[in-house]
Amino acid sequence: MSTFVESIGPLKDEALAAIVAAADLSQLEQARAAFLGSHGKFVAIMKQMGTLPKEEKPLAGKAINQGKAEIEAALAQRKSDLELKAALPKEPLDFTLPGRRRTLGKNHPLTQATDDIVKIFRKLGFVVADGPEIEDEYHCFDALNTPADHPARDTQDTFYTQSANGAGNNQRLLLRTHTSSVQIRVMKSQPPPVRVIVPGRVYRRDNADATHNPTFQQIEGLYVDKNVTVGDLKGTVAFVFRELLGEEVKLRFRPHYFSYTEPSFEIDFSSALVRKMGKDWLEIAGCGMVHPKVFENVGYDPEVWTGWAFGFGIERIAMIRYGINDIRLFYENDARFLAQF
Ligand code: DAH
Repeated sequence: MSTFVESIGPLKDEALAAIVAAADLSQLEQARAAFLGSHGKFVAIMKQMGTLPKEEKPLAGKAINQGKAEIEAALAQRKSDLELKAALPKEPLDFTLPGRRRTLGKNHPLTQATDDIVKIFRKLGFVVADGPEIEDEYHCFDALNTPADHPARDTQDTFYTQSANGAGNNQRLLLRTHTSSVQIRVMKSQPPPVRVIVPGRVYRRDNADATHNPTFQQIEGLYVDKNVTVGDLKGTVAFVFRELLGEEVKLRFRPHYFSYTEPSFEIDFSSALVRKMGKDWLEIAGCGMVHPKVFENVGYDPEVWTGWAFGFGIERIAMIRYGINDIRLFYENDARFLAQF
């Protein structure tokens, strides 16, 4: 190989090093001019081509073209990197700072209660999960170990969609009656351990009165790991309610039955606010240790994994928190009511 061709490689490397070292667009332009400008080093070497013996020209031409193409590609890449860098903020941004302009209006009291509960669970390492409001019987009932003749599945309690009539068994569509359906969706989509909460809207064929409405909101919680106990469940629920409603709240776990937990409990709640509403205890949640059958249904080994689950009614909690005695007030959009929160 001629010394001419051999000199191209080092010169190209020199150019590439200068391009990478350019700290801004003007330094990059200097590097470009130094090698590919009309008085540049690379251009100078191209001009020497004419003096080469004829048989060396093809090889030299090829090496020069390759070198030039590489330098041009490096220039383009560095240019786009530097442009991106120039567009980025010079100092780190704090995305948690409040906006400059005050937002109009405020969140609905149910949204405020939900946000606060989610924040408290986040402190414990829970993440928010979501699922569809139009569910099928499998996720809402069957996978949760709820037998086909359970009264909750009755058309008097559950809203089935029109397409429900034609669909095959346990694929019938319905409006979910609880957020527990999302437990199944989460566990089917990931291996254990699990730590999720699921705020969401649910539907039941209730007539509206002071404590019932055909649609309301729940927060589901699900915790799956090794050696999880009822003690973890109690400790978690107590922590969340003290954070949300104050140190002096009292909780009571009463044995109950749910098909998807064993043992199952209902949680009663007491505080000064509850007593102000004329009651000693108010039932606020269902919960329990996840039933082995449910673990089997989602493909978790019940010999290895244990867990607890619960479901709260958000309206109930907001009613306690704000001392509201009629659930319907939440849905009437009366500005005089909403302005108080
Ligand atoms: N799904 C129940 C309801 O809507 C509440 C509930 C009870 C949820 C026990 C749970 C649970 O996760 O373990 O009344």
